[in-house]
Amino acid sequence: METEAMKQCFAEKFGEEGEIRTYFAPGRVNLIGEHTDYNGGHVFPCALTIGTYMMARKRPDRKLRFYSMNFEQAGVIETSLDELEPLVDKRWSAYPKGMMWAFQQKGYAIENGFDILLYGNIPNGSGLSSSASVEVVTGFMLRDMYGYDAISNIDLALYGQYSENNYNGVNCGIMDQFAIAMGKKDHAIFLDTADLSYQYVPVKLNGIKIVLASSNKKRGLGDSKYNQRRAECEQALAEIQKQMDVPSLGALDEKALEAVQDAITDPVCRMRARHAVSENQRTVKAVRLLQEDNIEAFGELVNASHISLRDDYEVTGIELDTLVETAWQCEGVIGSRMTGAGFGGCTLSLVKAECVDAFIEKVGSVYQEKIGYAADFYVVDIGDGPVRLA
Ligand code: GLA
Repeated sequence: METEAMKQCFAEKFGEEGEIRTYFAPGRVNLIGEHTDYNGGHVFPCALTIGTYMMARKRPDRKLRFYSMNFEQAGVIETSLDELEPLVDKRWSAYPKGMMWAFQQKGYAIENGFDILLYGNIPNGSGLSSSASVEVVTGFMLRDMYGYDAISNIDLALYGQYSENNYNGVNCGIMDQFAIAMGKKDHAIFLDTADLSYQYVPVKLNGIKIVLASSNKKRGLGDSKYNQRRAECEQALAEIQKQMDVPSLGALDEKALEAVQDAITDPVCRMRARHAVSENQRTVKAVRLLQEDNIEAFGELVNASHISLRDDYEVTGIELDTLVETAWQCEGVIGSRMTGAGFGGCTLSLVKAECVDAFIEKVGSVYQEKIGYAADFYVVDIGDGPVRLA
């Protein structure tokens, strides 16, 4: 359905001649393990069935033309491969351009430009990684168009992170791009960000649905606060390293942290480190519980993750707290927490199928009343990684 409308739009904007290829990359949601991926810890995300569609055609010259059906007001954005300069473009086109730039930085020449049409069905600003999805779909397209078969999907994830860090100026970890590039239907990815070892874990929810609630909060300063959290963790680690030889916060357990926590001079940094360490431990435990089909205990750790993100990491805010704390009071809720970077974005709730309608009704009305605008709800499925569709 999406691609039919895209075909028409492509023809309208760019003409229908030549070889036009179509690709898809998913969005992602993280089940547990938040703000651990830049601390050498574990994460447990999965790819979704919603994501980003891209139609692309190679050009004979070095021109780049972009059009997004999600940002029609931006019109066709025209630039060229000779104008890929980090940190300048603030429009959505900075993401595909960043990936083209990253390929070249990694030694893969991109000599011809492209006409590119994008359409995403990930709700904008929902924190389901629409930007990483655009990065990965662009990398997947470039690899296919240029036949760069030596590039693996893990490389695509790494190039996506590299471009986001250096081209877009957000110091994100590897989780989003990895979850998207390596997604597998009905599985979550238990990833150790210290060495990128990973394991696919079946998510058998037996009558329980994954319900996402988008807070619709405008994020504003989110990126800079994200970078600040990361810097606070780095400061805590640097002070700990004056007393002990440890590569990352993820290498510590709660007991080990307690023994060295006085080394961290700033109490705020101490709280941040406590979250990084406890969340990593929780993630490892939670995965074990899911493998044992102990979904109730898994849900309790999901709840504990939110509390730690709220109290120690301070990345929730009234919107996400309202969604989660109301969810906790609803019948049939196994667990609920904010997911993604925080400061807005969305929450994840595990809800018994028969209770989903009542859940949406209650959480939606409490949110509307307290916050003054509506939240949006999505019941999602776990999908595969990127593909070429045509
Ligand atoms: C964002 C980043 C990820 C990760 C999460 C928090 O989604 O892009 O790398 O740090 O926040 O877990």
